[in-house]
Amino acid sequence: MAEPVLVVKVGGSVVSDLPPAWWDDAAKVAATRKVILVHGWSAPLRAMHANTGRQPIMLVNQHGHRGRFTDARVLEDIRVASVDLRARIRGELGKRGVSAVAADGATAKVLVAEVRRQRWWVDGRLTYLDNIVGPIRDVDATRLGRLLRAADTLVLTPLATSPQYPAVNTDADRAAARIAMAAVAADLVMVTDVPGIQIDGATVAELSREEVSPLAPFVTGGMKKKVSAAFTALDAGIGRVVIGRGTISDLLAGRTGTRVCRR
Ligand SMILES: Nc1ncnc2c1ncn2[C@@H]1O[C@H](COP(=O)(O)OP(=O)(O)O)[C@@H](O)[C@H]1O
Ligand SMILES: [Mg+2]
Repeated sequence: MAEPVLVVKVGGSVVSDLPPAWWDDAAKVAATRKVILVHGWSAPLRAMHANTGRQPIMLVNQHGHRGRFTDARVLEDIRVASVDLRARIRGELGKRGVSAVAADGATAKVLVAEVRRQRWWVDGRLTYLDNIVGPIRDVDATRLGRLLRAADTLVLTPLATSPQYPAVNTDADRAAARIAMAAVAADLVMVTDVPGIQIDGATVAELSREEVSPLAPFVTGGMKKKVSAAFTALDAGIGRVVIGRGTISDLLAGRTGTRVCRR
């Protein structure tokens, strides 16, 4: 029997500059089991905006959280950056003999998000704005399975649809966890730009749930999202979740990265 599905989330911070050896290993892994590769887009989007002289719009919402504001133009930029990323990922795998289908979760109707109306501070006033971002509410496992059967590897952009919008920005880490759950994946690997969860300059090899709360002040930003997504996946029965920098094989074998454990 084929080995169960592996979900690899490749962070936007690293997706554009993974070395050839990383892709060699990815191709080797993909030859032995079904892989769903979910990619982020932060650095490519930043580069695109730098080229056009645009700044991200950061706003504070009614709950006091600051975040990137996603309007139709930002979504279009994400879409364009992702078309390019999917093509490059398929190319890297293809030239190593791995067949890949690539899709975006919105167009393929695999991911459904919920966009809540929120108010944002604009010029000193709380104002309703359409921020086209929201959490995943549903993954169409049938469509996902169909895409996955079509090739060795599925390259998936975590954009979603919603009842109101054809495309919605969603958090790629949480999306990867939900995709892993829908695919009944055995493992989830989150490849990022740091060796793993760092505490006082050292990488934590294993992180259990009881260790998470006291470490909360030291795990922030993008890493906080990963840890929360990791526990969502573990609670839903995903056997192994690893976060860090390195090849898929090294991360899975525990040679690098942080393994997040249920207990
Ligand atoms: N304790 C921590 N250990 C490692 N990284 C952390 C920690 N706390 C915050 N971070 C930040 O999380 C980042 C990884 O998340 P992010 O930038 O979103 O990457 P990705 O593009 O892979 O999603 C690291 O580069 C680091 O700046
Ligand atoms: Mg991130």
